[in-house]
Amino acid sequence: MSNAKLTLDGTDHEFPLVEGSEGEVGIDIAKLRGTTGAVALDPGYGNTGSCQSAITFIDGENGVLRYRGYPIEQLAEQVTFEEVINLLVWGELPDEARLKELRATLAEYAVLDEGIKKVLEGFPKTAHPMAMLSSLMTALGTFYPDGDTEEEILRVIAGTSTLAAYIYRYKQGLDYVEPSKDLDFASNFLHMMYGTPGEEPDVDETIAKAIDKLLILHADHEQNCSASTTRMVGSAMASLYASISAGVGALSGPLHGGANQKVLEMLQAIQDDGGDLEKYVGLAKDKSSDFRLMGFGHRVYKNFDPRAKILGASADDVLTALGKDDPLLDIARKLEKVALEDEFFVKRRLYPNVDFYSGIIYRALEIPTEMFTVMFALGRASGWIAQWQEMRNDPAFRIHRPRQIYIGENERDVPPISER
Ligand code: CMC
Repeated sequence: MSNAKLTLDGTDHEFPLVEGSEGEVGIDIAKLRGTTGAVALDPGYGNTGSCQSAITFIDGENGVLRYRGYPIEQLAEQVTFEEVINLLVWGELPDEARLKELRATLAEYAVLDEGIKKVLEGFPKTAHPMAMLSSLMTALGTFYPDGDTEEEILRVIAGTSTLAAYIYRYKQGLDYVEPSKDLDFASNFLHMMYGTPGEEPDVDETIAKAIDKLLILHADHEQNCSASTTRMVGSAMASLYASISAGVGALSGPLHGGANQKVLEMLQAIQDDGGDLEKYVGLAKDKSSDFRLMGFGHRVYKNFDPRAKILGASADDVLTALGKDDPLLDIARKLEKVALEDEFFVKRRLYPNVDFYSGIIYRALEIPTEMFTVMFALGRASGWIAQWQEMRNDPAFRIHRPRQIYIGENERDVPPISER
């Protein structure tokens, strides 16, 4: 491959090209400022590759998502979330012995210091679960400050499930249920959420499988807002706990993971308003209104989000398996149809994303709407860790520090207060 040529003020500069294993081409501009004095300007980073990564591949034009080469459709059907954790964080699907070991270690690290409960109980019960989770993640590090990276990784993955369940129970005014040593990750989480303190686990297999699949589908998504945030914070050599806490904060936003809560609230609002879909589609198209169709659109996917496809089908299966009927699913399906036939959405290539159907499934599983984004974080923690670890081990590792183009005032003297 030849180099990329840039002509600046009549002078030619050449930059090497980098080709990924799927043929993606990047222009390596690491020396751009040094050789030309100029920087690249790319608000929102839509054209900027911030790293080379071997974790997740997305082809947005064709709706492809793979973790370390394995198609998401196969992973969702054929393996468990624990296997995906091993794949993302340790690089390969585990054999039986490794899987057994990982399950046992995660169950062990799911037991948290009693002091965490005191921190949790300092929050108002009305606080949003994502704000609690982000704070508790930082707090977790204060209880285990001396662990090596491997121990921290296991504590964060396992701890996220215990924290999520504790947050739920605290908000509901229920006593905590301690983790079991005999359960897989998804079942242990459900046991801590819905079990009875002191009693043997009794977890519904259908629900555990549905949760497991949701966790797999949310586990990683390359350089999205929260993964990039986690890398950014970690690049300052901040702790894993601090980095993941920042990732949780980024995920909580409604344009990112917080969209799953907003989708459900939107569907509910449409139903309460008499089910007038055209009105809401019209509102989403109206540039004078702030309203967007939550769960629609994606920076990378321009044909369909493969996760939404899997979840759309899964929503039916879960409702049938649980013997439930949800009018919001009918509204969601109709809304999808109306939007997909509307020129505004077709022209902008706006399709349902992962957050569009996940909420319907969480609702069927009786997970409160406010907890939806915590469920997303529970799956995504493993991806954040894989990204954080890859960044730290990258031979090209440097603190992340973008440049800017300053557009403010030129130098001026401070006037006395009487003249301001
Ligand atoms: N409803 C109505 N219009 C939309 C929507 C939407 N959901 N999404 C994008 N548009 C329009 C937008 O107004 C713009 O129109 P125009 O070209 O006329 O100005 C055009 O489509 C391009 O949108 P954009 O905001 O420039 O696209 P982006 O890549 O910066 O943003 C997004 C991507 C996901 C933030 C955005 O599509 C959005 O706000 N969607 C709703 C929130 C949502 O569902 N977020 C979850 C994303 S997937 C999971 C995750 O990341 O956690």
